[in-house]
Amino acid sequence: MGAFMVLAVLVLLAVLFCLIYVSMRTARFPFVLRMTGGRKRVAVLISFAAYLAICILLYLTINAVNMVIVIVHFGGFWLLSELVFLIIRKSRGHAQAAAAHNGAASHSGIESTVNNGSASASGIAAAVHGGSASASGIAAAVHGGSASASGMAYALNTWLPGTCAIIFTIIYMTVAWYLCTHVWEKDYSFESDRLKGDLRIVQITDSHVGATFHAQRFHDYVLEINALRPDVVVVTGDFVDDDTSREDMIGSCEALGDLETTYGVYFSYGNHDKGYFSDEAKGWNNQDLCENLEKNGVTILQDESVLLDDRFYLIGRQDKSEEMRGGSRKTPQQLTESLDPDLYKIVMDHQPLEYDDEAEAGADLVLSGHTHGGQFFPFNQIGVLTRSYERSYGHERRGHTDFIVSSGIADWALIFKTGCKSEYVVVDIHGV
Ligand SMILES: [Fe+2]
Repeated sequence: MGAFMVLAVLVLLAVLFCLIYVSMRTARFPFVLRMTGGRKRVAVLISFAAYLAICILLYLTINAVNMVIVIVHFGGFWLLSELVFLIIRKSRGHAQAAAAHNGAASHSGIESTVNNGSASASGIAAAVHGGSASASGIAAAVHGGSASASGMAYALNTWLPGTCAIIFTIIYMTVAWYLCTHVWEKDYSFESDRLKGDLRIVQITDSHVGATFHAQRFHDYVLEINALRPDVVVVTGDFVDDDTSREDMIGSCEALGDLETTYGVYFSYGNHDKGYFSDEAKGWNNQDLCENLEKNGVTILQDESVLLDDRFYLIGRQDKSEEMRGGSRKTPQQLTESLDPDLYKIVMDHQPLEYDDEAEAGADLVLSGHTHGGQFFPFNQIGVLTRSYERSYGHERRGHTDFIVSSGIADWALIFKTGCKSEYVVVDIHGV
């Protein structure tokens, strides 16, 4: 709870900083200054009130966490925009200084010619007359140019960076919402001499049903997956979480029951499936989940393995979070030591951890989720850098083991993904 409070305070401070920063910058907009009669403090206060109203609107429509995500992105983009326009202003300033310097040099060159020239008096007079007309033309041009330059400098200094930040944030977050709330198929293909024949595995992970879709839409994805004719479907955790309603939990289990496969549907736990809050609040418990999964023909694997068609093993690991709940989980070695070493082994492990141990234990393919693909660019590698997990997304081969981390078919409370997109995974293994 201590760490949670620290995080909450940090997030609150970040939002407050963003709101104060964008309010101060918005107060420089000409129309805001006009509206407040040029009183800067009033302009800042009115801007802050307007942004606060937008925050409340976002909170009511897309929840507090997503509101924070939008505001922090907005503040970040505005800051970035200011930096870009600062560089533009500096480079324009250098260019104008260089132009003024060249103009002065040219002017002194003319004077020198006039003073040292050996032309006739009338010729000089004509030249001076023409020169004077030309000089007035130059003055007019300089005057017009300086008005235009000062107008641009004013825009660069006041409203242009903010306007760009507002437009960019709207486009960026709309794309992020689309990437999170729509689902793509992600394909992988490997070869193995430990498998007889071919095998098509479909992985569904991190559906957190109720977050970006409800049971009915999940059923639509099930129909899409059926069209792929999978041999086996694996659900690798965070199928549901604390925010999943009882109706969605039951409906999604029924949807899994409609999957058409050769070898069945298998389920391993994630860190959210058993929930963190009270069962009363969500209206169902882990036993209800197990009953509904089993009723719909889904096999739950908790540190267990099954041999399918004498061709390959499917091993479902207990989630790492079980240790925090006072439970335990077996090591990869314990899970594979009694299995035929010559047969292909697929491991379902919600969190991408212990890659070396899993490779050493003889796993051929390890399927994980949990990371949501790193969620946000450019922070999608933070989990790897802090060693919270082995990788945030994609495929890696270590030894003879293929590791896949999926970004998940949905998300939890968040409805934005910028470092990846939502997906289900199709793995084709081509055997001998
Ligand atoms: Fe997770």
